[in-house]
Amino acid sequence: MNYDVTVIGSGPGGYVAAIRCAQLGLKTAIVERYSTLGGTCLNVGCIPSKALLDSSEHYHNAKEKFATHGIHLKDLTVDMPQMISRKDEVVDQTVKGLDFLMKKNKIDVFQGHGTFVSANQIEVNKADGSKETIQTAKAIIATGSKPITPASFNYDKKRIITSTEALNIKEVPEKMVVIGGGVIGLELGSVYARLGTSVEVVEFLDSIIPGMDKDCGKELMRSLKKLGVTFHLKHMVTTVENTGDKVKVGVKSKDGDKTFDIEADYCLVAIGRRPYTDKLGLENIGVEKDEKGRIKVDHHLQTSVPGIYAIGDVIEGAMLAHKAEEEGVFVAEVMAGQKPHIDYNLIPGVVYTWPEVAGVGKTETQLKEEGRAYKVGKFPFKALGRARASMDTDGMIKVLADKATDEILGVHMVGPRVADVIAEAVALMEFRASAEDASRMSHAHPTYTEALKEAALAATDNRALHV
Ligand code: FAD
Ligand code: NAI
Repeated sequence: MNYDVTVIGSGPGGYVAAIRCAQLGLKTAIVERYSTLGGTCLNVGCIPSKALLDSSEHYHNAKEKFATHGIHLKDLTVDMPQMISRKDEVVDQTVKGLDFLMKKNKIDVFQGHGTFVSANQIEVNKADGSKETIQTAKAIIATGSKPITPASFNYDKKRIITSTEALNIKEVPEKMVVIGGGVIGLELGSVYARLGTSVEVVEFLDSIIPGMDKDCGKELMRSLKKLGVTFHLKHMVTTVENTGDKVKVGVKSKDGDKTFDIEADYCLVAIGRRPYTDKLGLENIGVEKDEKGRIKVDHHLQTSVPGIYAIGDVIEGAMLAHKAEEEGVFVAEVMAGQKPHIDYNLIPGVVYTWPEVAGVGKTETQLKEEGRAYKVGKFPFKALGRARASMDTDGMIKVLADKATDEILGVHMVGPRVADVIAEAVALMEFRASAEDASRMSHAHPTYTEALKEAALAATDNRALHV
């Protein structure tokens, strides 16, 4: 039980770090407290939420759009237990794939809760009460995050729920209150809104998805309102109470002028996530945390204890699976003596509603704050043939470029399949392309990507071709 590296946590940060360590010839172990590998992302996050988003989108299209396409269906119903069971199968196949990858890369898996006894010793506490101790030269902490559930919200996993329980509701609720107009609230809120639930979102700030470009928030809100979602911006929840088969949510406007109650079947608490370091034994070895409970790391992602690194949701930065993965690879390569690099400005953010939202680089707000002179090119999806063919005309693509050099500084989009279109913007920005470079690349016709070329043309010289 002597390893070069031990990774604690098997989410997208941890398992990718373990694979890269093994590829680089390091004898690697991974410790996971749950019975399946894959962490939040594969078990109760990215993968199951996208499975339900896809299922609910099929239903919504069948109900609302098929007739316009000339397809008529009779007796359309939702079989919620089947929808949930398909989602579970997708998760099952995905986590089993990880078992295969661990074996293939000769990574030893320890099932149990890992606790540092010393910087080179990790105790694994198993579900049956037994213990094992691993000796390790180095360690990577990838223990992820948990939902924030303030005591006043009375989180009970029954009526007052987080994303984890919202992925397992076996009936279509009549009404759901969502606290937080961020990524989880809007993705899972739209799942249920499409299935027929009346969804009300209470958001503290004056816009939804506040971290993303403001125009994207406005566009998305318009589309979600069409879906029937109600928004209470600049409002906060004061009390949440399980009343038996219902939940009562007390809401107050930010200026304190208005108070009202909403009664619903469920209240989804989606106000962010906190780093998870419970019983990790950080105090035994002196690993330091910041004021938000995140593990402090240096530019090599090394903690205050030499040889111990931390990655993913448990450190500062965006709580995204692909950010955690990049950091997993980065740390393994640092340990192997390489000189890897991550450009955090070029980690894209995506919201998988319909229309989808995606962004990379600087937002307009950030550019204004930096005092940078920039130009804007926008192109609406309603002017695009491909979008009209698929009846997905909501949204737009916006290219922000430096006023003097034309270098692309940010790309923000709302529209069909923009979760995939954003990859082109990332590639352009990785190679420091100008808006003119993007506008001179041939884009297959008809595709959604043409909207990016048109927005780049609009930014170059205000010469989009199709508006
Ligand atoms: P995690 O995935 O949280 O994994 C940490 C693992 O460590 C867990 O398995 C945990 O059990 C284990 N662990 C913790 N402590 C110990 C210990 N002491 N010993 C042993 N094991 C331990 N991100 C995206 O990029 N795209 C998406 O579409 C997306 N959708 C999401 C949807 C939902 C509903 C949620 C909740 C999150 C979503 N995210 C998404 C965020 C994404 O899941 C996280 O950013 C990502 O999982 C972080 O990876 P991680 O490896 O840092 O930690
Ligand atoms: P979030 O940070 O995205 O959104 C939380 C929202 O709640 C914010 O708009 C905030 O202003 C609001 N809020 C906070 N306190 C509030 C209160 N008391 N009352 C009303 N509103 C309040 O957090 P969320 O949605 O919980 O997601 C957590 C993390 O998971 C995110 O950081 C995100 O990166 C990740 N995630 C990513 C996904 C993706 O990449 N597609 C999907 C789902 C989650």
